Amino acid sequence: LGSDDFFTAQRDNALTYDDVSLATNYTDILPRNASLATSLSDRLMLNLPILSSDMDTVTEYQMAIHMALCGGMGIIHYNMPYREQVSQVTRVKYHINGLLPNPITIPIHLKIGDVLKLIAEKSYKFRTFPVVDENGRLAGLLSSRVVKERYSALEVKDAMEPLDHVHAMNEKDVLHDPIRVADKFFSENIGINKLLVVNSDGFLKGIVSLSDIERINAESQSVLKPARDSNFRLVVGAAISAIRKPDGSLDHDAIAEHVGNLVAEKVDAVAVSTAHGHSAGVGETVKFVREQFPDLTIIAGNVTSASGVEYLADCGANAIKIGQGPGSICTTRIVAGVGVPQLTALYVAAQGAKKKGVKIIADGGITKSGDMVKALTLSDAVILGGMLAGCREAPGELIEINGKLYKQYRGMGSISAMEKGSASRYGQDKKDTTRKLTAEGIEGMKEVQGTVSETLAPLAGGIQSGMGYLGAATLPELKSKARYVRISSAGMKESAPHDVIEISKRG
Ligand code: XMP
Repeated sequence: LGSDDFFTAQRDNALTYDDVSLATNYTDILPRNASLATSLSDRLMLNLPILSSDMDTVTEYQMAIHMALCGGMGIIHYNMPYREQVSQVTRVKYHINGLLPNPITIPIHLKIGDVLKLIAEKSYKFRTFPVVDENGRLAGLLSSRVVKERYSALEVKDAMEPLDHVHAMNEKDVLHDPIRVADKFFSENIGINKLLVVNSDGFLKGIVSLSDIERINAESQSVLKPARDSNFRLVVGAAISAIRKPDGSLDHDAIAEHVGNLVAEKVDAVAVSTAHGHSAGVGETVKFVREQFPDLTIIAGNVTSASGVEYLADCGANAIKIGQGPGSICTTRIVAGVGVPQLTALYVAAQGAKKKGVKIIADGGITKSGDMVKALTLSDAVILGGMLAGCREAPGELIEINGKLYKQYRGMGSISAMEKGSASRYGQDKKDTTRKLTAEGIEGMKEVQGTVSETLAPLAGGIQSGMGYLGAATLPELKSKARYVRISSAGMKESAPHDVIEISKRG
């Protein structure tokens, strides 16, 4: 049955991933040609429908960089001072750029010794700098060959390569396609590894490095294509909370300052992340952010009903997170007795999303690529926590136990995470000493599992495989072609490997 008939027939049963299987369709699609492209708003496109969860043991800048390099997006958590979160967003946006706008420049009046001090103070990882004159116009290029202690006393103006020796191009010849133009330039100018981009008045507009172009070319050979913004920067999201004043009312100034700083660093989406998104505080926050930042992609949640989706859509959210209690570290259903099994939650949410023309994201409870295929028959993307928490790029120290390596993975509603700051996500106050915090999540560990790209590549292949079986060339087609069957526990047993001694999980 298609989704409407199936879920109507099952209206007395709330179902999750393992309760159903998808029926095959005639296909002329080769799985490897199935497109995994999706969008979370008119402005935010991804090449892989997978987001990493805004949890403090899952997504900081390294995870976000590698999620975007694989085509998805990381949402950096907010259990840290907000300025730290903003600087993590900056680190993602400046990771490998086609054209690096506003590069760091050196004023011409400095000495090499001053440049060395600056490098140490700011921890710059590079030593080649464009030099600008007192009016801010490009004056030359200071090469790493001369940025050395032994030349400390030299004036920058005497050590730099002067403008007539520097390779610079006018922005109007570059901006339409910086990667291709720079690629051609570096092939034709042997031994040159920096191309400066200037405007017609001689002001520096950007810099392109040969090493970045080579890495971008290597990426384009890979199956997982990076998710980039229109300036070729990697995409990234950041979680925000409904910040409140001591009297309980929303702190509009604090929210505007937080989001304003994220937007200044070109964040691609903010996620208003709470356990109960169908609530006045979340709605008011989304409305306020929408008014202040009309072009920003807003993700909000979490909800598990059509009315919850419609409410957040009316407040101005573009994409809504679905899931209450399905997560691997969640205890909301045990502690509060609340939550809807995930597939039914996605179906009802999808009805609200269709009505309002917004996107929905399946958040929590995914443990295999087959779950993702099922989730994507109803949603536009999925969020992973536990499946990524053991990756090398997840935050946190490695823990060795009996020769095996592990990483901590904890719910944002666990006591330790709430004490660090996430209590507001669960409608609690960490400063409230009159009440003990009530946990809605546990603290655990995940075995270290390799890199993000090693983890995501087979998952992407699994989604494409499902699309091949359903004859779906695109994710919207996957939604329209899905037909479901209810499976019994015997059917589930049959679905997993059985009656063999498993010696390898590969293949
Ligand atoms: P997975 O299954 O991917 O789930 O590990 C990650 C999602 O779980 C949610 N989350 C929580 N839910 N208590 C909850 O009930 C918690 O402490 C908690 N922490 C995270 C969140 O939506 C995340 O993306």
